[in-house]
Amino acid sequence: MKLLILGGTRFIGRYITERALNNGHEVTHFNRGNHAFPEVETLIGDRDGDLSALEGRSFDAVIDTSGFFPRTVSESVSLLAKVVDHYTFISTISVYKEFGEKPCTEDSPVQVISEEEAERVTSNGNGPTEHYGALKALAEKELEKHMPGRVLNIRPGLVVGPHDYSDRFTYWVKRLDDGGDVLAPGKPQRPIQFIDVRDLANCIVDMTEKKVTGVYNVTGSERHLTMGELLDTCKRVSGSKALLHWLDEEFLLSQGVTPWSDLPLWLPESHNAAADINVDKAIAQGLTFRPIEETVSDTLAWLKTRDPSLDWKAGLDREKETKLLNKTDRMYS
Ligand SMILES: NC(=O)c1ccc[n+]([C@@H]2O[C@H](COP(=O)([O-])OP(=O)(O)OC[C@H]3O[C@@H](n4cnc5c(N)ncnc54)[C@H](OP(=O)(O)O)[C@@H]3O)[C@@H](O)[C@H]2O)c1
Repeated sequence: MKLLILGGTRFIGRYITERALNNGHEVTHFNRGNHAFPEVETLIGDRDGDLSALEGRSFDAVIDTSGFFPRTVSESVSLLAKVVDHYTFISTISVYKEFGEKPCTEDSPVQVISEEEAERVTSNGNGPTEHYGALKALAEKELEKHMPGRVLNIRPGLVVGPHDYSDRFTYWVKRLDDGGDVLAPGKPQRPIQFIDVRDLANCIVDMTEKKVTGVYNVTGSERHLTMGELLDTCKRVSGSKALLHWLDEEFLLSQGVTPWSDLPLWLPESHNAAADINVDKAIAQGLTFRPIEETVSDTLAWLKTRDPSLDWKAGLDREKETKLLNKTDRMYS
């Protein structure tokens, strides 16, 4: 199949590309050319205002990893609707209105934003500065309007693994590998969900090949994983002697620790935001999950190749962590 990827070079797109090439497809990227990717043909342009490189081209399918704004998604699909059979859009579970008592299924209510309000949202160069979930929900609708019955909307949860440029999951892999006294948030039994980027990419390419349409949540996993299991796995895989100290959520909040960004994958129980995303539909389409040991081990191996001078985008700095640990009454052994 002739496959166009709008994006394709950073994280999810790079593994979608790898899967598609392995499956024998002819892949073309469309992006601004910020990240070299010599293995495939690249058309240079910008979702916002310069789609000229796509004119006169035709493809069997498109996978869109770089659509955030309803207007730019609408511009791309207007151009492509006549020259592609199938459109796969990478949306997000952030579309959902609330994460509450009940698991979110694909039919759960999504956030709403008017076209006028959506137009006012600005870009930081890589995505919107606000209303991320609501904009994705509106973009999904735009696609369905232009290509009714030919669109696959994939809603991933937190995506993790090698080349993740958000540093969220990677923070924990590194922190446990570094060892010493490690601050862990809340209760070890707290359930968490995430998906390995390779499992997500395989699922996206395989469903695109089958021309599946409709909406699919795609996150992990078949059974509920806990924060305790994740951190124990990071410790075991790295062979570290780290000592975990589970600190009370209310204490952390009172100290100004920001959930998710300071301590990734931590959403306090009091915020009633624990994600419980139902992925039965995607599993029925063939979604599979690799063991978390493999995800941790591959992330750790990639981390060792990463430029150590790069700033971290998520996680507590070590000084703040030590200060918080010292404030507690715990006795460290
Ligand atoms: N990471 C997560 O946990 C997570 C969770 C849920 C959903 N998602 C969704 O996953 C998608 C992002 O995945 P990714 O970054 O890993 O994808 P990617 O395809 O690996 O990288 C993003 C690509 O988009 C291109 N791009 C960005 N802005 C562009 C523009 N204005 N015009 C043309 N190309 C542009 C970038 O290249 P240039 O910079 O060269 O243009 C790059 O190739 C997003 O839609 C996000 O909402 C991610």
